[in-house]
Amino acid sequence: MKHIIANFKASLTEEEVNQWIKEFRNSSVSLSSNLEVVICPAFVHLDEFKPLLDLKKVKLGVQDLSPQPQGAFTGEITAQALKKEGVTYALLGHSERRRHFKETNEIVLEKVKQALKYKIIPIICVDRNNFPAQIKLINQLSLDQELLLFAYEPLSAIGTGKPEKPEAVARIAQEIKKLSNYPVLYGGSVNLQNAASFLKQANIDGLLISTASLKAQTFLEILKIANE
Ligand code: PGA
Repeated sequence: MKHIIANFKASLTEEEVNQWIKEFRNSSVSLSSNLEVVICPAFVHLDEFKPLLDLKKVKLGVQDLSPQPQGAFTGEITAQALKKEGVTYALLGHSERRRHFKETNEIVLEKVKQALKYKIIPIICVDRNNFPAQIKLINQLSLDQELLLFAYEPLSAIGTGKPEKPEAVARIAQEIKKLSNYPVLYGGSVNLQNAASFLKQANIDGLLISTASLKAQTFLEILKIANE
C-alpha cells in the first residue's frame, strides 16, 4: 500500500478550492486498491471535499488537531469533532507547526493520543534531528494494531525546490523503521518529475506533497504515476 498525501497548508482561497474539486471530480482518475490518497485541506474547507470521498475514493485528512479532549479550550478543534466530520488522517508535528507554533515532541505525542483515541490515523512528520526522540515517545504508547505513518521531511527540502536524493531518503527511512516498524513517507519538493524516483525505493511508502498538490492537474498526473 502506498500513501499519497496532499497538504494544502493555508495556501488556497475558497475559489481555488472549488476549482480544484471541480477538476478532480471531472477527471477520469481511478485509484488502484493499493493506493491511498489523502487530501488535507484547511479546516474550513473540509466540507467541500466530502463529495469526493465516495466518488473518487479519496480520504479526508487535517493538518493539525487539538492535543486536548472536548472541553473548555477556546479555539481548539478536537479529534472527536473531526472524526464526526469524516476525517480519517491527521498530519501531526509538521515542521512549520514545530517552528512557528513551538510544537514539541511532547505536544505532538498528546495529539497522537487524541487522534488514536478517535481512530484518526496520525501522519507524524519528522526530520533528521527529531525522529529518534519523537519515535521514543511514540513507542511508549501501547499501539497494538493501530496504524500510524511517519513522514520524513528534511527542512532543506520543504517548499524549496531542492528535494533530498531518493537514495538518501531511503537510508533515513530504514533508520526510522529500525526504531518503529511503520510506513515511512517522504515529503519535500516532490513534483511530477521526481515522484517516480521516490516511489520506486523499497523503503519509501508514499509521498507528502504540498506545492505540487495545489493544482489539481499536477496532482492528478502524480497520482497517475503512483497508480502504475
Ligand atoms: P512541498 O511541501 O511539497 O511544497 O515541498 C511539503 C510539506 O511541507 O509537507
